[in-house]
Amino acid sequence: MDQDRTPALQAIGDVPPLPAHLQVEVTSACNLRCTMCLVRYRPPINKLAGAMRPELFHRLVDEVPVRRLTLQGLGEPLLSPYLLEMITTAVGRGIKVGFNSNATLLTRARAEQMVAAGLDWLHVSVDGATPAVYEAIREGAHFDAVIGNLAGLVQAKREAGSATPWIRVVFVAMRDNVADLPALTRLLARVGVNELRVQNLSHDFADTDPAGSYQQIRDFTAGQALWTDQDTAHAHRMFTEAARVAAGSGLTLRLPSLTDQGGGNCTWPWDAAYVTSTGLVQPCCMVMGDDRAVLGDLSRQSFTDIWRGRPYAEFRQRLDSAEPPEVCRGCALYRHTF
Ligand SMILES: C[S@@+](CC[C@H](N)C(=O)[O-])C[C@H]1O[C@@H](n2cnc3c(N)ncnc32)[C@H](O)[C@@H]1O
Ligand code: SF4
Repeated sequence: MDQDRTPALQAIGDVPPLPAHLQVEVTSACNLRCTMCLVRYRPPINKLAGAMRPELFHRLVDEVPVRRLTLQGLGEPLLSPYLLEMITTAVGRGIKVGFNSNATLLTRARAEQMVAAGLDWLHVSVDGATPAVYEAIREGAHFDAVIGNLAGLVQAKREAGSATPWIRVVFVAMRDNVADLPALTRLLARVGVNELRVQNLSHDFADTDPAGSYQQIRDFTAGQALWTDQDTAHAHRMFTEAARVAAGSGLTLRLPSLTDQGGGNCTWPWDAAYVTSTGLVQPCCMVMGDDRAVLGDLSRQSFTDIWRGRPYAEFRQRLDSAEPPEVCRGCALYRHTF
């Protein structure tokens, strides 16, 4: 989930210009089964079947005047056999490019490759400060190995004398791990990453059938989300302590709001789009699930036709009204708790 887009003027009612930001799911395959991620609750997909075809990727960057490209969706980007070629293509066109990774496959050689390729940012997911907490959430990963890979990336960047990629650690704050936040802040300041970004769970899935295929992630979220926590005061204390540790350490810390501030002001469908590995176009990266809010299919239409089509226009119109699409109501970005 990526939120660093340049805000654009909204052209509500009109068809906005083609977006300058695309988030492209380069693969839907993953080597982990994290407790908060939809990947855990759907059938596994292998590395070749899950990869976006390079032809589709090239078609997209040829058609859309992209300035910023996020190369990840629900899957692990380093599993894509085409990732490096996609990065090189994008960088060659002057596009800012980056992705999130679980960093389990980020060997020193791959870290050096990423630095040399001109990757603009790399966001590494670390949801705990101890093997016990981290490995219970990130099933299949080893804490010490991932912290070693992260340190290797910092070192590779230093040795190359490169200012990029910007290295951010992403921590999804939940009941299971919020107590680890101050210790993680301390650890990351030592490792030398640029930033720690704490985010809440992205969606409550309340728009889905409680007995349907989203049942497990919906129940998980209800039990873990800090915005429904009886003990929000505890989360606040952890946030305050993390901020105290980060102050003056050189580590930038960003904390989310724990209070639902009402919905609105989302600009995604006007200035960005999300494309799944199979070429479905969705309004944003927050939806999770390719059977919700699908606005078009690149195997049948051009991106431009989808962007200018009726489903997109209706989605924009509803999002801009007091009756937003169901899928937006439970979105943490829409509710300003992300
Ligand atoms: C879906 S992952 C894909 C990239 C990569 N596999 C990884 O783990 O970083 C992208 C980001 O979404 C985060 N994420 C996963 N499930 C989430 C949820 N339910 N709410 C908020 N963030 C979530 C992950 O921690 C990660 O930082
Ligand atoms: S959060 Fe990332 S690593 Fe974990 S299951 Fe989802 S896609 Fe895979």
